[in-house]
Amino acid sequence: MSKLVILVSGGGSNLQSILDAVATGKIQAQVAAVIADRDCYGLERARKAGVPAYLIDRKLHRSDLSEEIAKLIPFDCDLIVLAGFLSILNVKFIQKWPNKIINIHPSLLPKHGGAGMWGLKVHQSALDAGDNESGCTVHYVSEEIDGGAIIAQHAVAIAADDSAESLQQKVLHFEHQLLVAVIAKLLA
Ligand code: GAR
Repeated sequence: MSKLVILVSGGGSNLQSILDAVATGKIQAQVAAVIADRDCYGLERARKAGVPAYLIDRKLHRSDLSEEIAKLIPFDCDLIVLAGFLSILNVKFIQKWPNKIINIHPSLLPKHGGAGMWGLKVHQSALDAGDNESGCTVHYVSEEIDGGAIIAQHAVAIAADDSAESLQQKVLHFEHQLLVAVIAKLLA
């Protein structure tokens, strides 16, 4: 059975879509751990699903966050999923698992990515640019923030009356589907 580790920082709706897909067999894997860098609802979702949940507080581990997280990841982990994880992992961490760390980002990268681009800021950036579509991207994690090889994208039309909040909700719906589909494919 493949082993997944999921890193979260927030509400964990993408995590929930993975947990649900594991429960129904759409993703054939065991979630070995959910790790958060701050106290968040994602940890609660993991506990409710009976998955080991760990908090490595980014404020207490400013210099060794990546090392402390790495200690919790089984040596035979098949895939590490950043599902709304907002801390930056260091080079040593990224190089330890080549092509085994993926991230979901709420835009059509390379648009609206990079340092500081997360949450509503991403969607506001798409609106400010006058884009007529946005979407979501799953990509491999490299040393460049949001710059790793793109695995899959899903486009979403932007309506004239969209706000950052409404666009976020539209995109999130497709994030859940895209992330599950990519994980299932990568583990198959
Ligand atoms: C998602 O929209 C995800 O794409 C985004 O954070 C949200 C987490 O939602 N990630 C980034 O912006 C990373 N740059 P969730 O906690 O409900 O899954």
